[in-house]
Amino acid sequence: MTETMVRLEAVEKSYGAVHALAPTSLEIARGEFLTLLGPSGSGKTTILNLISGSVAATGGKIWIGGRDVTHLPSNRRELGMVFQNYALMPHMSVFENIGFPLRVRQYSEAEIRKKVHEVLEVIRLEGYANRKPKELSGGQQQRVAIARCLVYNPDLILMDEPLGALDKKLRDQLQLEIRRIHRTLGVTLLYVTHDQSEALVLSDRICLMNSGKVEQIGTPDELYFRPRTVFAADFLGDSNILDVSVVSNGKQAKLTTRSGFQIEGVQTSLSAPVAKVMIRPESLIVAEDGNKEPNTLTGLVEDITLAGGVVDIQVRLDNAETINVRRLTTRDFRATERGRPITLRVQPSDVVVLE
Ligand SMILES: Nc1ncnc2c1ncn2[C@@H]1O[C@H](COP(=O)(O)OP(=O)(O)OP(=O)(O)O)[C@@H](O)[C@H]1O
Ligand SMILES: [Mg+2]
Repeated sequence: MTETMVRLEAVEKSYGAVHALAPTSLEIARGEFLTLLGPSGSGKTTILNLISGSVAATGGKIWIGGRDVTHLPSNRRELGMVFQNYALMPHMSVFENIGFPLRVRQYSEAEIRKKVHEVLEVIRLEGYANRKPKELSGGQQQRVAIARCLVYNPDLILMDEPLGALDKKLRDQLQLEIRRIHRTLGVTLLYVTHDQSEALVLSDRICLMNSGKVEQIGTPDELYFRPRTVFAADFLGDSNILDVSVVSNGKQAKLTTRSGFQIEGVQTSLSAPVAKVMIRPESLIVAEDGNKEPNTLTGLVEDITLAGGVVDIQVRLDNAETINVRRLTTRDFRATERGRPITLRVQPSDVVVLE
């Protein structure tokens, strides 16, 4: 049995006429890494603030560790928070910054020294204890902010875009660091980001937010391979979204795209005559010309781009429809020229019918 760490029951938040969060129910298991992902203004920070208690709910109930905290003030909820602007105290050393939460909790001098040095090891900043924040890089400061919240062993840590201000290399590095910390300490982590790849890398589950509502919640695999809506398919990863007419439904449905591409063997119980489907660019296989197998289509290469380890090929189908194909880069990728016909194939299991 997994224990529930956080439970929201129909929690909502309005600011006058603005519905920042529609009634939302959500459970986070103890030890889980759950990420709130979504575009700007979708309600991610609102959920975090409601859980931390810095904002009061307009309705609903919130439990942390089995305790109803709905009306409990922020400082009695015993959780850790890390924000985008790490807000270390500039006049204090790294040691004093990290030790501060312990001092507030009246730990002894010896205990503080022991615990601070333990977390300095966790964040790999042994030897930096006496520096001031301004003598650290942005990434190091952010690690200190994380340490300051790990030091008193909270059961639950909330992080709001903690890597938002850092460059790509440093983000990647700290992402791995956060994942490692989560795994070693087994702490429950609720993480906010609008970066889909960060969410995929870090999370046990992703809660995708859209306009103050939960759009879809599931493991990274579920969201990536089985998005339910156009919004989810579009927000996570790159996708081709095509309009189709449903020729027949059931376990072996037949669909036709606007350009006349016929897809057979898809599973859908859809009864509507038209729908949208998603095909990931990497699910399209470049086949030999003249291949007449099922689920094969032809088009013209419109553009081809080297994007590092992958090559993106834009293919124009009839009827002004285009489709993007992604392959691993090979040295001879330019052999596929612009304007040339190209034959593509897709497995029916890689075609996802959207709501
Ligand atoms: N104090 C407030 N007064 C009025 N409206 C607010 C207030 N705080 C948030 N909102 C509104 O609530 C909605 C959700 O805001 P929230 O901060 O949760 O978004 P977010 O998903 O964290 O976005 P971002 O990625 O930009 O940080 C937004 O439309 C926002 O304008
Ligand atoms: Mg926010």
